[in-house]
Amino acid sequence: MKLSTLTNKLTVVLLSLFIHQTSAIWLYLDTLSSLQSVTSLIADGLMDYYTGLQYGQTIGMFSNPYYWWEAGGAWGSMIDYWFYMQNDTFVNITIQGLLSQVGDNWDYVPLNQSTTEGNDDQAFWGIAVMAAAERNFPNPPEGQPQWLYLAQSVFNTMANRWDPDNCGGGLRWQIFQWNSGYDYKNSVSNGALFHIGARLARYTGNTSYVDWCDKVYDWMYDTGLVTEGTWSFVYDGAKIADNCSSVTKLQWTYNQGLMMAGAAYLYNFTGEEKWKVRTDNLVRSSSVFFNNSIMYEAACQRSGNCNNDQRSFKAYFARFLGLTAQMAPENFEHIYNLLYQSADAASNSCSGGTDGHTCGLNWWHSGWDGYYGLGEQMAALEVMQNVRIRDRPAPYTADSGATSQGDGAAGTYVSSTNLDPLVIKTKDTAGAAIITCVIGFSIIGTAAWILI
Ligand SMILES: *[C@@H]1O[C@H](CO)[C@@H](O)[C@H](O)[C@H]1NC(C)=O
Ligand SMILES: *[C@@H]1O[C@H](CO)[C@@H](O)[C@H](O)[C@H]1NC(C)=O
Ligand SMILES: *[C@@H]1O[C@H](CO)[C@@H](O)[C@H](O)[C@H]1NC(C)=O
Ligand SMILES: *[C@@H]1O[C@H](CO)[C@@H](O)[C@H](O)[C@H]1NC(C)=O
Ligand SMILES: *[C@@H]1O[C@H](CO)[C@@H](O)[C@H](O)[C@H]1NC(C)=O
Ligand SMILES: *[C@@H]1O[C@H](CO)[C@@H](O)[C@H](O)[C@H]1NC(C)=O
Ligand SMILES: *[C@@H]1O[C@H](CO)[C@@H](O)[C@H](O)[C@H]1NC(C)=O
Repeated sequence: MKLSTLTNKLTVVLLSLFIHQTSAIWLYLDTLSSLQSVTSLIADGLMDYYTGLQYGQTIGMFSNPYYWWEAGGAWGSMIDYWFYMQNDTFVNITIQGLLSQVGDNWDYVPLNQSTTEGNDDQAFWGIAVMAAAERNFPNPPEGQPQWLYLAQSVFNTMANRWDPDNCGGGLRWQIFQWNSGYDYKNSVSNGALFHIGARLARYTGNTSYVDWCDKVYDWMYDTGLVTEGTWSFVYDGAKIADNCSSVTKLQWTYNQGLMMAGAAYLYNFTGEEKWKVRTDNLVRSSSVFFNNSIMYEAACQRSGNCNNDQRSFKAYFARFLGLTAQMAPENFEHIYNLLYQSADAASNSCSGGTDGHTCGLNWWHSGWDGYYGLGEQMAALEVMQNVRIRDRPAPYTADSGATSQGDGAAGTYVSSTNLDPLVIKTKDTAGAAIITCVIGFSIIGTAAWILI
């Protein structure tokens, strides 16, 4: 199970290569099959949390208490599993899951999630379908929304919520005014808009997305959500009440990753020096999320109080590190080394539970640390499969083999049932207030932990 055992094995293999001069292909396959057998157990463990196909459960959703957004994150991990481990076991179940939650407008704003869904939640489904487009994941049947279309739809609906009236710009955390966090502008929402925009720019070649990325990045920088220079950090967010003048300085791995990979895509697409410098700085500054080269969620893991959401953040961070290494190859060796050592530690941690392959949270712990959950399983899987960046192609674009079809105006064809807050604000304030009262009791802020 442990990758270091694998390394020892490889040393023996290398030695025998030296002696017998065997073909190098064999060595490569040996690495792949070892990784495949380790990750397949962990992927199975992840899918144990998928209850969507059980009687009375919802297709696309994972078991309680995992929120809707994390399902989007988990399907993204299964796309990576298919691509990096070259295993199509979960392909059909993933397509079905991704298509089940697109909602009436094909924009990942299903009406029945309006008490939990914020901009960030929508974005994590958007990031999954963006990857599906870039990886050439099997396309949905004709007549169904296509991966690129869905990603553009998510981008356009998010961009449409840009709010210049408060704090000089930025997205609010929440989409709907009845959810707690509507008064907060955070990095995960804005960073995700930036990130998806960067990937759409490179995929489609449409430079309007770059203009949007500049606008989002500049606003985040001006507001102090992103810093530059030696320590290029991404902070959590700021409240509208004081015009975003007071930044909550919590740092999460996935925020650093969203900005880092977004900058790397922009560098790859535009070749501009400013994006190279920002990428390199964000990569270097990511060192705060590693303890002896082992990835950890610094803001909560040390104190042992990471909530269910936060326990999955390392999954996205690992994914974004892998993408960054491929988009800005001068960072490749540095990132590969961090991923490899973290994967080694994570594999050591995936030895728990009754199934013997449950993954823990603290990867430097000797063996399983007693933690378990969808987030733990996703994070371990992603860090291990991203070790494959050396052998698998970089994300494709429309010009280099990707086949997913889209529409630059996706998401702007609004149906009559659309619950867009702008529509509510201008046309139906009284109605919205009534909805607020009714729904007020069932508010489930995706992350009430923000209010520290
Ligand atoms: C593919 O994945 C499934 C599910 O994890 C696993 O049972 C199977 O062994 C994997 N196949 C290979 C070749 O890795
Ligand atoms: C997925 O579904 C298609 C169409 O039903 C089928 O041809 C294919 O074999 C399935 N793939 C897997 C891996 O189950
Ligand atoms: C929510 O709506 C989607 C379609 O938009 C549907 O697939 C899903 O089953 C619904 N979820 C619940 C919990 O009813
Ligand atoms: C709020 O901040 C923005 C951006 O810094 C600034 O342009 C605007 O004047 C500020 N508004 C108030 C009321 O201070
Ligand atoms: C870093 O890892 C070591 C074990 O290698 C552990 O003892 C220590 O507590 C960790 N540091 C932090 C800041 O969590
Ligand atoms: C863009 O990414 C590709 C694929 O990894 C890589 O070959 C190329 O060198 C990158 N371009 C730049 C400017 O780094
Ligand atoms: C380019 O992207 C912009 C911004 O999202 C969009 O409005 C426009 O329709 C796109 N153009 C094309 C040709 O797709």
